[in-house]
Amino acid sequence: MSTDQRPRANNGVFRTKTVEQSIRDTEEPEHALKKSLSAWDLMVFGVGVIIGTGIFVLTGKVAKENAGPATALAFIAAGIVCALAALCYAEFASTVPVAGSAYTFAYASIGELPAWIIGWDLVLEFALGTAVVAVGWSGYVRSLMDNIDWHLPAALEGPDAPGGTFDILAFLLVLVLTVVLVLGMKLSARITALVVAIKVTVVMIVIVAGLFFIVGDNYDPFIPPAVTPEGGGSNWDSPLVQLLFGYEPTNFGVMGIFTAASVVFFAFIGFDVVATAAEETKLPQRDMPRGILGSLFICTVLYVAVALVVTGMQHYSELSVSAPLADAFKASGHPFYAGVISFGAAVGLTTVCLILLLGQTRVFFAMSRDGLLPRFFSKTHPRFKTPYRPTILLGVIIAIVAGFTSINELATLVNIGTLFAFVVVAFGVIVLRRSRPDLPRAFRTPWVPVLPILSIAASLWLMLNLPGETWFRFAVWMAIGIVVYFLYGRSHSRLGREGQGAKY
Ligand code: ALA
Repeated sequence: MSTDQRPRANNGVFRTKTVEQSIRDTEEPEHALKKSLSAWDLMVFGVGVIIGTGIFVLTGKVAKENAGPATALAFIAAGIVCALAALCYAEFASTVPVAGSAYTFAYASIGELPAWIIGWDLVLEFALGTAVVAVGWSGYVRSLMDNIDWHLPAALEGPDAPGGTFDILAFLLVLVLTVVLVLGMKLSARITALVVAIKVTVVMIVIVAGLFFIVGDNYDPFIPPAVTPEGGGSNWDSPLVQLLFGYEPTNFGVMGIFTAASVVFFAFIGFDVVATAAEETKLPQRDMPRGILGSLFICTVLYVAVALVVTGMQHYSELSVSAPLADAFKASGHPFYAGVISFGAAVGLTTVCLILLLGQTRVFFAMSRDGLLPRFFSKTHPRFKTPYRPTILLGVIIAIVAGFTSINELATLVNIGTLFAFVVVAFGVIVLRRSRPDLPRAFRTPWVPVLPILSIAASLWLMLNLPGETWFRFAVWMAIGIVVYFLYGRSHSRLGREGQGAKY
């Protein structure tokens, strides 16, 4: 073994785990996941998690409040940011095919503390993302139930509904999906494939049927002129970039497109989740890049088309914020399409939840296997070969969060966490190219370091367009993570202990 390949054992917070060591850890039978996924499965997973609340719900809010018909441009801007990041993710996922996504990548390139920070950040992204989508799903199911005059008791409609306190549907959804994940990947992949087909069909119906109901005047003006928000917009709700650099806070206009992009970015979250399944992929070197880039491309095309159609069907100022795609059809006198779309959205959001939950448990699993979280959580199930312990623990916590929390503002918190992960991954590509130029890379990010630097700049730009209060919440979560690392992870780290001669 060359010096290069040995764990650089020391007690520093920048100790790194070698790529070879990461891959070897996955081969221990007790801690191994089953390798069963193909490129097609990954693409289905990708589309399954990417198309969700972002396009079905946020499109209306953003068009109405931030960008008007130019929401399509916001989707393009967010798509470009994601494509740059995806090219970095694809290199990492094809080089380090180990559960844990950006966390594992950071551990192999930058060091333990940055890896912990990114893992902690991903826990936030996936857990809150799951909760956000579960509550969105619950809203669509309730709207479908309303159509046939079934109603839940008000108290069980969730904290966002008048008189509601607990969202029973969101809570139950997360619990059921937890059971599906404990039973095994193959089962969940099959369910996902079916649901993804329904979801994509519904999105295609929106685009194709909607084309016939477009009214050209709705596109005028395509980029509505900038306006000052009510109350002057100088509070913590305003994008940080406007607060920091003394712009007069505005909605719409060119800056509005970027504000919109930082919100609809949520619609793209998921291609990074594909990377978390690398360890369960049959041929990760070939299939990972295909899965990640393929699913991102398909979704970007669909989103831009949906945004153009919806803002063409109904004037942006009249779009609904809860179910804009379905309501645009109702408004143009086509309730049948509206019902079909609501049904497809409710079905489709199920897979989004499932895959976010999956990503969440895999990151937790990887962190526990490394000893940064208790190792108890990294024992896989003897029969199902799934990381059932973190799956059950996190599933229950997320179900409770989804049941009791009003999640509107949490979507932006998910976005900031994900964008931060993009920054770390792009940086990691540059670092790993320098520290381990010898590693076989089935997929190489083009134009390193220029492209990763562009990816970092683009992600930071979107982060700056998120509200000041989102930054504050994010800082609090990360501060807690750093305390946990120094109280537990640093001393229990498997890498640190092995460096001191301890055996596992
Ligand atoms: N991209 C996923 C959604 O829009 C998370 O729901």
